[in-house]
Amino acid sequence: MDKFRIKGGRRLEGRVQISGAKNSALPCMAATLLTPETVTLHNLPYVRDIITMRRLLEDLGSTVLMPELRTLKISAAKVEFFEAPYDLVKTMRASVLALGPLLARFGEARVSMPGGCAIGQRPIDLHLSGFEKLGAEVTLEGGDVVARARRLQGREIYFDKVTVTGTENLMMAASLAEGRTSLINAACEPEVIDLAELLNKMGARIEGAGRSTITIEGVKELGGAEHTIIPDRIETGTFVAAAAITGGALDIVNCCPQHITAVIDKLRETGIEIEQPNAFSLSVRAKDKIRPSNVTTLPYPGFPTDMQAQYMALMTLAGGTSTINETIFENRFMHASELLRMGARIRISGHQAVVEGNTRLTGARLLASDLRASASLVLAGLAAEGETVIDRVYHIDRGYEKIEEKLRSVGAEIERFRN
Ligand code: UD1
Repeated sequence: MDKFRIKGGRRLEGRVQISGAKNSALPCMAATLLTPETVTLHNLPYVRDIITMRRLLEDLGSTVLMPELRTLKISAAKVEFFEAPYDLVKTMRASVLALGPLLARFGEARVSMPGGCAIGQRPIDLHLSGFEKLGAEVTLEGGDVVARARRLQGREIYFDKVTVTGTENLMMAASLAEGRTSLINAACEPEVIDLAELLNKMGARIEGAGRSTITIEGVKELGGAEHTIIPDRIETGTFVAAAAITGGALDIVNCCPQHITAVIDKLRETGIEIEQPNAFSLSVRAKDKIRPSNVTTLPYPGFPTDMQAQYMALMTLAGGTSTINETIFENRFMHASELLRMGARIRISGHQAVVEGNTRLTGARLLASDLRASASLVLAGLAAEGETVIDRVYHIDRGYEKIEEKLRSVGAEIERFRN
């Protein structure tokens, strides 16, 4: 298994290029199942989850070509198998995004029920009740979710809780339903907007993506399209935090600062200087001692849960105590126990973490537990005295493209090794 070895204490300086958003690429790839025509996607990040989604599409019968790096031409003309098997779903929950498109186009879908995962239970009940409201019959057979319908019927669907992939799954399904669907209390994430843009290019009639009510006028069929995936806002935020935690200066390019306003605002409160030279880049300078600032994770446009772990690593260095409230996922503080092993002082109580700050982190052997937790351990390792070794970096490979190469190019001492 791959590991990272980091020698901490290097100040990062230079220019980093942001990759396409994994969380936008995954639903856009799933959306290709909605049409027999070819869909071309550009700016796909080169990360493990994209390879998994490609495998899923190919298992279903899609043809996937890569005419150039980061571009896939996907044709679901020959799909005749409607099942996402357990060995794929267990490595990537986003496999459930195949449900909506398969159900809507073929009237049948079987996806293995995702089990618990490191960051809590993460049920998909809201996806399933949404499909039922559109007229599908949903059953559980041998651990698989099986959904069947003749033609889905547009309805009003209210989400009890804001769910990103739930909104995306229903938006895709409703695109081929008969009549109008309204998704109320829908997720407003930029990735939802990106998917809606792709679907509209394919001939869907979606309005309001990015607001809490989305209306979808169902159409009979969808066609081919070409689309470029938006930049990854969480990777962007992670590099802003990397500059901050190393007292460095990074120019972050090919990003979309507008998508991380909450993160930029929060980090400015901590004393980091962040300029936006243009709509696609950020210039980050860390000069003074980091100030503590409390944060609460919220659905977009709030502070993203996917940046919580990285923010916690930063707060261990702040000049005082800060409080972090995690409201999206239960059990999303696993990185805290690893940070403690580096000398951090963090108390967890339910959904709240109190981080004492003023820590001189020291290198340690660490275990990555999930994607964003691993990013926080890398950041802590960059700031720590001495050597940090992080095991199970396959978690980070799921969502960060060549993070060690990008960090090395701006002065970090980090290497990947295997033993
Ligand atoms: C997506 C992102 C993930 C991010 C999360 C929250 C992708 C591929 N992943 O995950 O990186 O951390 O949004 O921003 O886009 N819930 C239910 N029932 C459901 C669905 C969700 O109770 O049917 C709950 C979840 O347990 C969680 C909350 O709703 O507490 C939000 O989850 P959701 O937005 O669905 O997360 P994902 O879409 O899985």
